[in-house]
Amino acid sequence: MGRSNVYHWMDGWNYYCILRSVENLTEDKNSEAHQIAPGRRQFLKMVAILGVAAASAGVLRSGLQNIIPPVSSATGGFQSLQLVSTAGIPIKTTDLTVNNPEIVMFNYPLLSDPNFLLRLGDSRNNDKAITSSTVTVPADGSTFKSPAGVGPYSSVVAASAICQHLGCKPPELRYHPPSDSSYPGKVHCDCHGSEYDPFNGFSVVSTPTNKPLPSVVLRYESSSDAYYAVNMVGPTIFGQPSDLSGGTPFPSGTVTTKISTESP
Ligand code: FES
Repeated sequence: MGRSNVYHWMDGWNYYCILRSVENLTEDKNSEAHQIAPGRRQFLKMVAILGVAAASAGVLRSGLQNIIPPVSSATGGFQSLQLVSTAGIPIKTTDLTVNNPEIVMFNYPLLSDPNFLLRLGDSRNNDKAITSSTVTVPADGSTFKSPAGVGPYSSVVAASAICQHLGCKPPELRYHPPSDSSYPGKVHCDCHGSEYDPFNGFSVVSTPTNKPLPSVVLRYESSSDAYYAVNMVGPTIFGQPSDLSGGTPFPSGTVTTKISTESP
């Protein structure tokens, strides 16, 4: 027939070629070799048109996947998760040491997001009440209100334990109590020297980071002396497009998150 009769089942362009071939066949009415019954012509046209539509949808989906990254996200927004021990027992204030030199962490809002849990105090390890403050994000000049401390002394705070510079985690990133000779009262990253102030919303003290650590909003229930993680504020967690995507969600129905402790 002087035209390609090979069908390629790969993409929209090839389906277009098929469509053209079928049209040529049906239009070449004077050629005996290409006489096709009207019913068959219609059928071939339909097959080709459906092929173009399917291929176009595939190309469109493929294009969208390049524009919109796949999202692994928690559904339904921020959960309220009670802080519990590794044995599943609810954490109480007496379980938290003021200026604990050990690294105390829990995961939130996703299972793959580690956070510091700090009960802050002065240089004599007396609880220090933490008030909400306006924190600046040097990267873009924006500001946000950090959460105040919670608990009976308003001294318990929490923040992401992933450095906002290049993502180092504990033990490289850790809190140094006020009595430490190095970096007293600061969260310091040994990777490249970034420093954050947990007494002021984990704001940036020293570069190279240009973003504060995202704070976890805690809720304290005085009647039961219980602690809950309920939200995040500040910039997004390092490397994540949003705090609820880019990591591993908690299994559905999860209502607690476990505290872990490790030595520096
Ligand atoms: S990763 Fe923390 S300072 Fe670079």
